[in-house]
Amino acid sequence: MEFFLDTANIVEIRNAKKQGLLDGVTTNPTLLSREGGDWRQQAKLICEEVTGPVSLEVMGETAEEMIAEAGDLASFGDNVVIKVPLTSEGLVATKALYKKGMKTNVTLVFSPLQALLAAKAGATYVSPFVGRLDGISHDGMELISQIRTIFDNYEFPTKILVASIRNPLHVLDSALIGADVATIPYKVISELAKHPLTDQGLASFKADWDSLTK
Ligand code: E4P
Repeated sequence: MEFFLDTANIVEIRNAKKQGLLDGVTTNPTLLSREGGDWRQQAKLICEEVTGPVSLEVMGETAEEMIAEAGDLASFGDNVVIKVPLTSEGLVATKALYKKGMKTNVTLVFSPLQALLAAKAGATYVSPFVGRLDGISHDGMELISQIRTIFDNYEFPTKILVASIRNPLHVLDSALIGADVATIPYKVISELAKHPLTDQGLASFKADWDSLTK
């Protein structure tokens, strides 16, 4: 499973890269607005820093507007993936971008049928939002299982990119189900290596080593 970082923060991106945990980045308007400043400059900086795919979101409402924005965003770098919302217009745009050979990430997916539509439109990635579903008492990970089954049934090449991840269990379940990618906030990525028994074991090895050598 690939690890994307769900952020627009350059320090977080550099840290994850240093740890060898950066296969790509997903941004959205909220994440870019948190960084302040000129969003275009920030997005270009991210595209330069990251070797893998970088999702940048269109904000137009019609397919024509989305396609025009996609052309602009694609000029930010060779690794840009156009993030398109799961709306009827978004699906038209996804199909058109597919025909142009451009990569897309269809976002704001909350049902298996929405994911099926995105795959049929030629999406490179679909982004089901597990945390937001859990937040309204729906089972986010069940959605991932259903999409996995549908894509496998018909051998769709569209990749499942698990989004809106809130905790390490979401990452574990994504890997067990066989999602292709998890886009993970930096705080959650930082928690993945932690285990109290590792800390405890290290402390006791250190104490024993000290008593042996001092
Ligand atoms: C990823 O591409 C999404 O934009 C992101 O995971 C949304 O997550 P949120 O529910 O934390 O806003």
